[in-house]
Amino acid sequence: MRKTTVRKAAWIGGCLVVLGMMGASALSASGFQVDPAVERKIDELLAKMTLEEKIGQMNQYSSSFDLTGPPPDAGWGRRQYDDIRQGRVGSMLNVIGAEATRRAQELAVNESRLGIPLIFGFDVIHGFRTTFPIPLGEAASWDVEAVEASARVAATEAAAAGLHWTFAPMVDICRDARWGRIMEGAGEDPFLGAQMAAARVRGFQGADLAAVDTVAACVKHYAAYGFAEAGRDYNTVDISEATLRNVVLPPFHAAVEAGAATLMNSFNEIGGIPATGSVHLVREILKREWGFQGFVVSDWGSIAELVPHGYASDLKDAARLAALAGSDMDMEGRAYIQHLESLVESGVIDIKLIDEAVRRILRVKYRLGLFDDPFRYSDPDREKRLLLHPDHLKIARDVARKSIVLLKNDGELLPLSKSLGRIAVIGPLAADKDAPLGSWRGNAVPNSAVSLLEGVREAVGSSTEVVYELGVALLAAEERSFAQNLVFNTTDRSGIPQAVEAARQADVVILAVGEDAFQTGEGRSQTEIGLKGLQDELVKAVLEANPKTVVVLMNGRPLAIPEIAENAPAILETWFLGSEAGHAIADVLFGDYNPSGKLPVSFPRRVGQLPLYYNHKSTGRPGPSDMVFWSHFTDESNDPLFPFGYGLSYATFEYSPVTLSSDKLQRGDRLQVSATVKNTGSRAGTEVVQLYVRDMVGSLTRPVRELRGFQKIELEPGQSEKVTFTLTEKDLAFYTADARWEAEPGRFQVWIAPHSQAGEPVEFELE
Ligand code: BGC
Repeated sequence: MRKTTVRKAAWIGGCLVVLGMMGASALSASGFQVDPAVERKIDELLAKMTLEEKIGQMNQYSSSFDLTGPPPDAGWGRRQYDDIRQGRVGSMLNVIGAEATRRAQELAVNESRLGIPLIFGFDVIHGFRTTFPIPLGEAASWDVEAVEASARVAATEAAAAGLHWTFAPMVDICRDARWGRIMEGAGEDPFLGAQMAAARVRGFQGADLAAVDTVAACVKHYAAYGFAEAGRDYNTVDISEATLRNVVLPPFHAAVEAGAATLMNSFNEIGGIPATGSVHLVREILKREWGFQGFVVSDWGSIAELVPHGYASDLKDAARLAALAGSDMDMEGRAYIQHLESLVESGVIDIKLIDEAVRRILRVKYRLGLFDDPFRYSDPDREKRLLLHPDHLKIARDVARKSIVLLKNDGELLPLSKSLGRIAVIGPLAADKDAPLGSWRGNAVPNSAVSLLEGVREAVGSSTEVVYELGVALLAAEERSFAQNLVFNTTDRSGIPQAVEAARQADVVILAVGEDAFQTGEGRSQTEIGLKGLQDELVKAVLEANPKTVVVLMNGRPLAIPEIAENAPAILETWFLGSEAGHAIADVLFGDYNPSGKLPVSFPRRVGQLPLYYNHKSTGRPGPSDMVFWSHFTDESNDPLFPFGYGLSYATFEYSPVTLSSDKLQRGDRLQVSATVKNTGSRAGTEVVQLYVRDMVGSLTRPVRELRGFQKIELEPGQSEKVTFTLTEKDLAFYTADARWEAEPGRFQVWIAPHSQAGEPVEFELE
């Protein structure tokens, strides 16, 4: 089934055609609320619908044909057309563009009996045409406004191209960098993840879903997809209810509270039950406890996959299990459209369940304004005017530079002067105009990003000579496909001597290494997470030739690069920054922007440390000890290479000891936690000040530290600011052994620190 879209994502003339590509126990309020007037309209519509038409609303197809051309005469495309005409389709994914969406919508609205509009979905993960940093990169900005602005632009462009619905935000917490999809989320921390999830929902959905520049969000993948064993995509997940509630679910809950209109099931099982068939996850937690009123779509074929999971006996059984669990729409599984009717007719599935699912789907369609004007989003003029609008590129550059993390800067090698005699820009990613677009790149135009080389050339004065050398190619073949494994270059070193020569003759080297854009993303798990191919050789040779080398990393996952961390004097983590990558990196390299990003994920020293995360448990033997009998590796430190929350600036910041308004917190009361942060450097800078808490004793063991707040402050040289966080009982609550969200009395430690491994704690007591 998947193959139809895979075929569409071919390399044509060196370009990837992406159009068909990607292809608590307390009850709480959902932000997406029910409107009685809409519900009445839904009642009327439901009364008119046949069972087949109802089930049709629960069926979603991917486009397998070019909707800008005439309908095909035969084959699957033809059947999709017929199904739409017969009211057997509620939604399409991968139909993109004002023209294409209009034509598909005309089939539904003008030719089906009830004229119910389709809802068009697409993976708008980090921008539609204007491309923003990959979500992991954006999370490094720790800047909720910037992330919201990025999602706002993405929605504006996607909606102008006729789309109603993005399959984003992806909010999967991930502690294992082997997993390729780590690039799509906000990293390892539930608190930061929740902030980012809510910001993205607000950005996509705006204040009014019916506005022509907003789209419905789809929070995915529900749930625990990021906890796949060994980081192998689609693999088994087996986590406790406490980990599910305390670590995995907070970003989902935050997104639901922010008003997300839809959620997507995940592919994985959890403890023996595939998430798509999980009554506990969908009916109990999401729909009942959280009061979610929108709809749930399966992941691609995930209902059908209940069969290979060994959970359903056949496709019909899979349809039954998923419908019972509360999955409202079947994405490309064909289980609902083929089997729900007979399941209802034979009394196995209650029609009430179907009505409920259809109501949820129609609710979102009404809220998008599709019943008022089904064509409102499909406007070619708006599409032409808005895609890649200069204002959008400006925002993309701003978000991109905020996402850059300065990992090392010995001897203040950075920022560079713009009037150096000669700069050598070297490396497989240095001139690459495609890699910075990253994976899951929406409708980006291949090779359209500003490369690092272009950014550097534009930034320097006329007296500076900028020379470029590839050094080594990253991939063995020029062409790569998002659906095939990459083949790395492990033999061709012919460019290294020229690179060494260029490095020798330069005042400074900027060396761009890292990953290919499609080294992360779906199906892109790896057992090694260092630099692939011959890059290490290149780095070594260049560093030997010229120690004044700034390593610029481009990558979608944390990299285990202990040698580079040791030997390179300066390292800049730039992820995949999107359309404006080269400009943003040059802004930071030459000091037009002082870096302020902080890692949203731990960087390991070695892959064998994974899963690695700062908010781990203490264990009974935390050590260190002189003997071997403590929880450690005998051949490597427990510590990350770079910890969660870490990132430098061209300024330096000093933190005072933490002070508390009291050493006791009464229930219902507030505790002020403060520290003074001073800019002790010679440049103005921005610092992300982080608040961490440790619950010393719990009915379930608690992590050694947990992020509970952060503030981004700007300080002039010499300036100090007192930063205060307010803690309440709610901030200390967790899912306890009694299966309740509550704060347990006792001792807590609290830090205000520049990252997850810094600072001295002070103690207080919750009474
Ligand atoms: C992915 C989803 C995506 C869907 C539609 C699936 O393979 O897991 O994240 O939204 O495809 O493209």
